[in-house]
Amino acid sequence: MPNWNRTQLGDQPVLGLSIDYPIALDKSMKTPFDAEIIRKDFPAISLHNLAYFDNAATAHKPQVVIDTIRSFYTTENANVHRAVHHLSQQATFKYEESRKIVADFINAANEREIIFTRGTTEGINLVAFSYGSLLEAGDEILISTMEHHSNIVPWQMLCERKNCVLKVIPINPQGEIIEEKFEELLNEKTRLVAITHISNTLGTINPVKRLVEKAHKTGAKVLIDGAQSAQHLCIDVRDLDCDFFVFSGHKAFGPTGIGVLYAKEAILEKMPPYQTGGEMIESVSFSKTTFNSLPFKFEAGTPHIAGAIGLASALQYISQFDRTQIAEYEKQLLYHAERKLSEIENIRFFGQSKNKASILSFNIKNVHPYDLGVLLDKQGVAVRTGHHCTEPLMDFFGIPGTVRASFAFYNTFEEIEKMEFALKKSLRLLL
Ligand code: ALA
Repeated sequence: MPNWNRTQLGDQPVLGLSIDYPIALDKSMKTPFDAEIIRKDFPAISLHNLAYFDNAATAHKPQVVIDTIRSFYTTENANVHRAVHHLSQQATFKYEESRKIVADFINAANEREIIFTRGTTEGINLVAFSYGSLLEAGDEILISTMEHHSNIVPWQMLCERKNCVLKVIPINPQGEIIEEKFEELLNEKTRLVAITHISNTLGTINPVKRLVEKAHKTGAKVLIDGAQSAQHLCIDVRDLDCDFFVFSGHKAFGPTGIGVLYAKEAILEKMPPYQTGGEMIESVSFSKTTFNSLPFKFEAGTPHIAGAIGLASALQYISQFDRTQIAEYEKQLLYHAERKLSEIENIRFFGQSKNKASILSFNIKNVHPYDLGVLLDKQGVAVRTGHHCTEPLMDFFGIPGTVRASFAFYNTFEEIEKMEFALKKSLRLLL
């Protein structure tokens, strides 16, 4: 068996990482978290002399994930659920074990509630198409001002198809949902609330558990966009009691092109298939097709097998650490960046929620975010600039875009100081 289940912490294999045996992690055994040590697990971080602060767009991959994917293609590659031969059985076993690892990671009741998708966007589109087909004219869908385009456009299209009504929960200038307005908007016609857990632009952590509770009182279902939260918070879908939870592998240190839709089994049972084709069927004749059981009903065609296995490896990698310790470290990175950058004259931060993740958006008066992005890059600091796929949010603030620095657990305080230095130098050139 290839050595695909080890991290790169020196020569030490880390306990609890085997995807083969045992499958369940011993949650009491955690590897001490130290940013300086774990940085060595991420080859791209060591390779470039770069302060990589674009983690909200995509995160780097630990060596164990890269090795897992390479090993799958090098020694095991086969299709899943289709053949009796050994390699296919092995691929099926690993693919399905990966689903269990995902279910465990977000505390789903069982693996039938885990659908592999291409990412958050596809997960939302799946729900909009499939659950959306059950809606009727006049039904209402609630989203918020801070949503990513991928949690706006699918609902707009659905509303056009079904004559439903899209309503927007307003936010306050700190970038927080106005909960009284949310309550006012909720009514018996509300069929779905689709809300981000963490704003990709502002870093706001929305009080999703409370929102779910309120939405359920009127009978509405709730979809949580977890694109920015799965990697930063401990997700427990049963505790949140959300109906749908979507996230992407690549932002959680896994591969691109793989993501997850969680949904409560009873709801998935009622939903029609999204895409059709091989594997999602039970039987096909020219007169009638019947569909496969969950979760396969929603996975038409050959899935991203290596992606799912790579994602499981990434989730196991982060699960070896005490996640609350990581969240605390990331918060300290955010505070440090806020403190350092607030010394800069005419800086304006966007997103000052009381409950925030490690995302810092800002502008400096009379400086275009794009110019700052280019100059920071020249000095070895990678940030994202622009509207961050949240144009309605930019309209709310009356700006075309921001500079966004988004931190992960492999970032350091020194890197933040490098950004501060580079920003000040850029401003001397620009102003
Ligand atoms: N949604 C990703 C971001 O916020 C791409 O950058």
